[in-house]
Amino acid sequence: MRPARHPHPQAARSSGSHSDQGNLGWWRQAVTYQVYVRSFQDSDGDGVGDLGGVRQRLPYLRSLGVDAIWLNPFFPSPQHDHGYDVADYLDVDPQYGTLEGFDALVRDAHRLDIKVLIDVVPNHCSIEHAWFTAAVAAGPGSPERGRFHFADGRGAQGELPPNNWRSIFGGPAWRRIIEPDGTPGQWYLHTFAEEQADFNWRHPAVPAYFEEVLRFWFDRGVDGLRIDVAHGLHKQEGLPDHDSALDDELTGDPNNPHAWNQLEVHDVWRRWRAIADWYTASTGHERVLIGEVGVLDTAELAAYQRPDELHQSFFFEFLRTPWDVEQLRSVIDRGRLTVAATGSPVAWVLNNHDMPRVVTRYAGGAPGGPVGDIELGLSRARAAALLMLALPGSAFIYQGEELGLPEVTDLPEHLLTDPMFHRTAGARRGRDGCRVPLPWDSGRDALGFSPEPAAATTWLPQPDWFGYHAVDRQLESGESMLHLYREAIALRRRVPGITQGEFRWLPTEPGVLAFMRGDGFACVVNCSSRPVCMPVDGHVLHASKAEVGEKLPPDSAAWLLVRACDE
Ligand code: NOJ
Repeated sequence: MRPARHPHPQAARSSGSHSDQGNLGWWRQAVTYQVYVRSFQDSDGDGVGDLGGVRQRLPYLRSLGVDAIWLNPFFPSPQHDHGYDVADYLDVDPQYGTLEGFDALVRDAHRLDIKVLIDVVPNHCSIEHAWFTAAVAAGPGSPERGRFHFADGRGAQGELPPNNWRSIFGGPAWRRIIEPDGTPGQWYLHTFAEEQADFNWRHPAVPAYFEEVLRFWFDRGVDGLRIDVAHGLHKQEGLPDHDSALDDELTGDPNNPHAWNQLEVHDVWRRWRAIADWYTASTGHERVLIGEVGVLDTAELAAYQRPDELHQSFFFEFLRTPWDVEQLRSVIDRGRLTVAATGSPVAWVLNNHDMPRVVTRYAGGAPGGPVGDIELGLSRARAAALLMLALPGSAFIYQGEELGLPEVTDLPEHLLTDPMFHRTAGARRGRDGCRVPLPWDSGRDALGFSPEPAAATTWLPQPDWFGYHAVDRQLESGESMLHLYREAIALRRRVPGITQGEFRWLPTEPGVLAFMRGDGFACVVNCSSRPVCMPVDGHVLHASKAEVGEKLPPDSAAWLLVRACDE
């Protein structure tokens, strides 16, 4: 299936008055807010967030001060992986709104000077995508099957999967279909859930299709794309067995060298970059590409953001690092010295919709396990926010991070929706706990997530304690996490030294991280459990704890305007 014809890029509208002539490169130090649409704001009372809800909350995002939003997938989808199983790349799921509603959201966001990034999912599509249903109907050997990875099974009756690859969500990466004549037949590859069939990127129709998808959304005025599984796409020809596939019996091989990180994928990013650059040059409205690149080696990660490939890739090593001074120092250096060496700054990230929230991680808690020491986790998360926002590069904030939301670790199992939970028979709890609908107003039904009177329950239940973190409460307190983020983002805009000065570590006592940006600004982070002296003399611009003065309390951070020697 080819997408409907859209105007050639040369006919691209320049999205009204929105033009960043003179603001090229905004993304290099941007703060982008990740909107998990399903859980952000419900505007129609069905208990599920939607694009209308995002539009209503734009003023909130404006006052938070972010430069851009990234919307998780809102395309038509049976929602087996909450939109990462896309059935139609060129429309909006009715549950989330309409194309016109999307256009209105982009228009309003641009009026408020907020850029809009959307999520593109090229590694796989829903088994309800028209190409896949056509492939099943067309039978073995058909051109339709050539756009996916269909293969005969092993064993006398083809009853065994074609190879030993494991799905990232658990279990084999293959599912057998029933052929149109009613007999058990071929298998198809799904590196994620069985409802997500992997495209065959060696088939020329696949890259051509996605180029149309890009143009469709760029023509609608989006400022950029977050690319799902950007290290995926091509599989090694012949789909050979993976030697250590069973190392992790539950969830599969993020390191399977035959399934991920094939050289050919870089050609795709070069081509997409050329398209994005064409739009930038011809409309004066810059379009950017940011990849979710799941490779563990920092140098290989950096290879994805070479000057003619993706603009950036998320630096997940930072998110995976525990609250430990040496590990933090070393991961920051890997980011600065390896990733940023490409000429493209690091995209720092502490949270996203796939990971337990940082407050809980730093508290020692875990989904389905202990809650942890939430006060400690919160102190550290506050300090980490100031650390991240002072590092050279851009930062991505996941909704609720600015409220200091902990993970909801104890959602009842019968309500869990993550395919990972089901495919591992409960052994992996999954990601629902960081996706609970946001608390906006502590005094309202559904904590203001749904309009009143709330007709439906929220798609995941909000725990009683969620109201404590609600936006209305945080607005009342100058000490709140929301206030901390707002002030930090505002300072990033106001004090050029924070984002532009050259990075330099300062010598410190053990347990402390401190660095300068240029000559005038310093960030100091105390990861230890005792108060420490400031390693540099200066005026405190912002701090994660009220008690910051001559000394920096345990698990806290401060931003300083450094005094020149003769002051
Ligand atoms: C990465 C996304 O962030 C995650 O939520 C999704 O389940 C997988 N890719 C599969 O699309």
